[in-house]
Amino acid sequence: MTEALHVGIAGLGTVGASVVRIIADRKEMLERECGRPITITAVSARDRNRDRGIALSGMRWFDDASALAVSDEIDVFVELIGGEDGVALDSVTKALKAGHHVVTANKALLARHGFDLAKIAEDRGVLLNYEAAVAGGIPVIKPMRESLSANTISRIYGILNGTCNYILTRMEDEGISFEECLADAQRLGFAEADPTFDIGGHDTAHKLSILTSIAFGTRIAPDDVYLEGIANITQADISAARELGYRIKLLGVAQRTESGIEQRVHPTMVPFSSVIAQVAGVLNAVAVETDILGELLFSGPGAGGNATASAVIGDIADIAKSRPGFQHGPVFGTPAKDLKPYKRARMKSHEGGYFIRLTVYDRTGVFAAIARRMADNNISLESIVQHSTSADDQNDNKTVILVTHETTESAVRKAVEGITSDGHLVDKPQVIRIERAG
Ligand code: HSE
Repeated sequence: MTEALHVGIAGLGTVGASVVRIIADRKEMLERECGRPITITAVSARDRNRDRGIALSGMRWFDDASALAVSDEIDVFVELIGGEDGVALDSVTKALKAGHHVVTANKALLARHGFDLAKIAEDRGVLLNYEAAVAGGIPVIKPMRESLSANTISRIYGILNGTCNYILTRMEDEGISFEECLADAQRLGFAEADPTFDIGGHDTAHKLSILTSIAFGTRIAPDDVYLEGIANITQADISAARELGYRIKLLGVAQRTESGIEQRVHPTMVPFSSVIAQVAGVLNAVAVETDILGELLFSGPGAGGNATASAVIGDIADIAKSRPGFQHGPVFGTPAKDLKPYKRARMKSHEGGYFIRLTVYDRTGVFAAIARRMADNNISLESIVQHSTSADDQNDNKTVILVTHETTESAVRKAVEGITSDGHLVDKPQVIRIERAG
């Protein structure tokens, strides 16, 4: 029989434990598919004595992940530690330099150091696989990296954070608070160790920056993502969206424009009838627009131990199936040395529709003043409605909802600044971008 593929796993949290359990449970099936056994030879984690509900017998224990990374007992180093620097970076770098293939689920590490790590992997002729880093269990990296070579991609947009989608879905379905939904996401194991990474959109931005690099052949630019999280989305926004035929999702969007590439993460109104609007709960979805295929949509479980482990094991199986001496494809679809510097499009030039919710004093001339500011900035309105809520009735304030036709970010910012300076607003204005979605 062909020699087993020897795997070392660093990090035995929710995902690591699922990887160990599924490989043990599906040993024969994996061996049949790969033509050789996959054997977990060694593991490393912080606490040796913690009960994880998995059998680790026969696996060598390493206290130090970087020592495991260079061990000659392994062919593949699986990094499930997390974090963009520290042990994760050190161990992955050492594993690649030692000529080991690497599988990682670490989006922060790839967003920050993916370009340098890809250069090392390609120089050493080893694989750096990271399907689990973006959209959990959904196979999206491989299709984008390998199957779409003949296509020119113009836009990618997606729901890339299960925690945010879970929160927004439950807020809409059950009318419950943001905090209650977040606590449940943490309890269910979707949320990051620091959930502000989810809520603030940073996790989505990391994943988006990886997809951007593959889609547009550019170097990863995680700091060039325009970022707004979901913490200020209220029930008032959710119900107004529904009345207008939209649903609010935290989207990551990357798109080619005349002035460069836009990367943006923000709460977004998508048409209620669009496919992406139906993606609920912890599910993720990635839409890819190409010149040949039109729009493709990948959707499925984007977070959680088993879903993420499925992608990690798929990556390990790919390595098991690869043959020594065979030249591996580039890590980001284009050889790292040929990835172009990223050219950022200015957010102020972004073009699209906007939803604007204003809480105003109930007095004469307010509507007219708002309409005047819009006209002064050449913004054409699709609708402007006065909206009554129970909170309005108590305070004698009114809510005004505007939906614009396609305009620019800069015009909307100027109009909203003007409305604010007119002194009619009771509360901060809420502005949510509307995205075209199929
Ligand atoms: N915290 C992430 C999410 C986990 O909620 O989607 C997967 O990256």
